[in-house]
Amino acid sequence: MSHHRPIYLDCHATTPLDQRVLTAMLPYFTEHFGNPASATHQYGWEAEAAVQRSRQILAEAIHATPEEIVFTSGATEANNLAIKGIAESYFAQGRHLITLQTEHNAVLDPCRYLQSLGFEVTYLPVQPDGLLDLDMLEKAIRPDTILVSVMAANNEIGVLQPLAAIGEICHRHQVLFHTDAAQAIGKIPLDVTAMQIDLMSLTAHKVYGPKGIGALYVRRNHPRVQLAPQLHGGGHERGMRSGTLYTPQIVGFAEAVKLGLWEMDTETQRLVELRDRLWQQLNCLPGIHLNGHPSQRLPGNLNVSIEQVEGQALALGLQPLAAVSSGSACTSAKIQPSHVLTALGRSPNLSYASLRFGIGRLNTVEEIDRIAAGAIATIECLRQSRR
Ligand SMILES: Cc1ncc(COP(=O)(O)O)c(C=O)c1O
Repeated sequence: MSHHRPIYLDCHATTPLDQRVLTAMLPYFTEHFGNPASATHQYGWEAEAAVQRSRQILAEAIHATPEEIVFTSGATEANNLAIKGIAESYFAQGRHLITLQTEHNAVLDPCRYLQSLGFEVTYLPVQPDGLLDLDMLEKAIRPDTILVSVMAANNEIGVLQPLAAIGEICHRHQVLFHTDAAQAIGKIPLDVTAMQIDLMSLTAHKVYGPKGIGALYVRRNHPRVQLAPQLHGGGHERGMRSGTLYTPQIVGFAEAVKLGLWEMDTETQRLVELRDRLWQQLNCLPGIHLNGHPSQRLPGNLNVSIEQVEGQALALGLQPLAAVSSGSACTSAKIQPSHVLTALGRSPNLSYASLRFGIGRLNTVEEIDRIAAGAIATIECLRQSRR
């Protein structure tokens, strides 16, 4: 990467494609271009074999079987398929769903849409550290609850929800459990069997894979999940998601997840060191607060709120040095506090700026030290100018 460009520290938004992933993908754009559904010739067979190998790798990565993987265009589509598909299949049994206030909009918006159709949704609050209160979840389950959707790892504060404990509660009450694992796949261990997960949304581009590809895991045994398709057509993916399979992206997705698993232990240790090093340096400033649980979070995630600084001014001040997210969403020129930080009880006061650092595979110790020094200087400068 060129030295003139800002250091990339926004790995929750997306990650660069790993060179090894690109190498695995390239033959499937050109030489092996066949349609995996073409069953009568070698071009189709080659593509189908590559899809099957990829499906196997992804299934093993989450302790599922290949038939339980439904390829989608990403986690947004997987979340929509899971939530709307379950609502459509199970509405005769009940019309109540449970999710969290801190979910990604790709979960919240399908839930709001279902409300407009007459479903009821409980949006559970979280504790100040971002974790779900398990007793509160259990109390929220009703006889007409059909689905609980709780994310694996939060995209702003990186907090990891206790999936196995949630799965145990859901199955004891015979409620299906969906988790949005967009930020988690290839970064933390995921096991749909041990964690009693029924549906899980995945995406490739947060784990150094290509954009535009993801999957929904759909349990086939104990219980067998019924899912109404949201895209009708050629009946691909066992009828659950029609559309010609995107072979190069599927190959890249599997390669990216495979590399993520291979390197998980060493990379986790390295990222935690970088993350803690950054926090130790920033924490020397007065009026800076860590958002989310200090250790039960993604290894590369650091999210801080900073007093007496305006959020956008801070992000813009840092921009020549580093690409980070300012943690506030800009909607029609009006800066809104993040719904995740609001759910943690952080004041919506705009004098509280927040920064989300997403540290990744390409970041170095030297970069972290430069960012820390740059952030401290920018914050001090902005505070001076307010006096
Ligand atoms: C938690 C979470 N869910 C869903 C998504 C959407 O994923 P995709 O970009 O694959 O549609 C993202 C990423 O933006 C995310 O962080």
